[in-house]
This record gives sequence, structure tokens and C-alpha cells, in this order.
Amino acid sequence: MAIREIRENGDEILRKKSKEVSEVNDKIRELLDDMLETMHKYNGVGLAAPQVGLLKRVIVIDLYDGNKPLKLVNPVIIKTKGKQEVEEGCLSFPNQYAKMIRPEEVVVEALNENGEKVKIKAKGLLAQALCHEIDHLEGILFVDNMIPGTLEYVEPNQDKG
Ligand code: NI
Repeated sequence: MAIREIRENGDEILRKKSKEVSEVNDKIRELLDDMLETMHKYNGVGLAAPQVGLLKRVIVIDLYDGNKPLKLVNPVIIKTKGKQEVEEGCLSFPNQYAKMIRPEEVVVEALNENGEKVKIKAKGLLAQALCHEIDHLEGILFVDNMIPGTLEYVEPNQDKG
């Protein structure tokens, strides 16, 4: 496994649309593992492949809640329900946070790291993280969805991650 460089706001790759993965092979599994390791290093709860410079529909999520991290390929939101107001950040926007409205619940279909179909029913923080990472695959960034005027900079020494 290896740490990959995280692309930050202003890098044009973050604005591009990612391509579907045609086969979940060892190369994709290596990418998933590297993304997880990179995300953990920076205490993120989610990371999408464009953030490490690859326009592939690949995301990882870990809420640090005791559940196994999610490694998802070609994720698609097939259903949303309700609304929640959330605060959100992004590893491509260090120390920046904003408020926005996300669905309270989502159902996502994807492939796992073995290329098997999985369906995830999520609410709360997991629903938020899935929406955020799947947005990255479309070149959509969290600041696009924020409630105007809510963007804040938090000094790194106060950063609770
Ligand atoms: Ni992000």
C-alpha cells in the first residue's frame, strides 16, 4: 500500500467527470487500498479517486464507528429520502467547513472490491458521506452545495477532523 498525493482545490481534475470502471481487478483493489490508507493518514471520512488524480468511479468511506470501511466501485444513488442540515469538509479543502442540506437517507448500488453487486441503505453521516463522494465523481465539490455564507476556516490546531 502507498500514500497518494491529495489534489487540492484549484486542481482542474477535481472538476472533471470520472469514468466507469469496466473491471474490478488487482489494479483497482490496489487503488482502493491506497485511497483508504491516504484517507486514514489525513483523518478523512471519505475519499474519491479524482482526489488522488484518477478519473475513475471509485470511492472509500470510513466513519471510524467500528464498521468495516466501505470500498465502492461505480456507486450510484438510486433513492433518496428526507433532508438533513449538515456541516461538511473535504480533504481537498484543508481546514474549511460549510453547512448544507443533504438527503437524510440514501440507497446506493455499487460493486465491492471483489466486483460483486452491493446495495447500501444509509442514513445520517453515512448518507452524507456517500453523497459527498459520489458528487466528486461528477466534478461537484461541497462548496457548490453549501448554504451561502457558511464557509468557515478552522485553524489546524483546533481542527477536530
Ligand atoms: Ni471531498
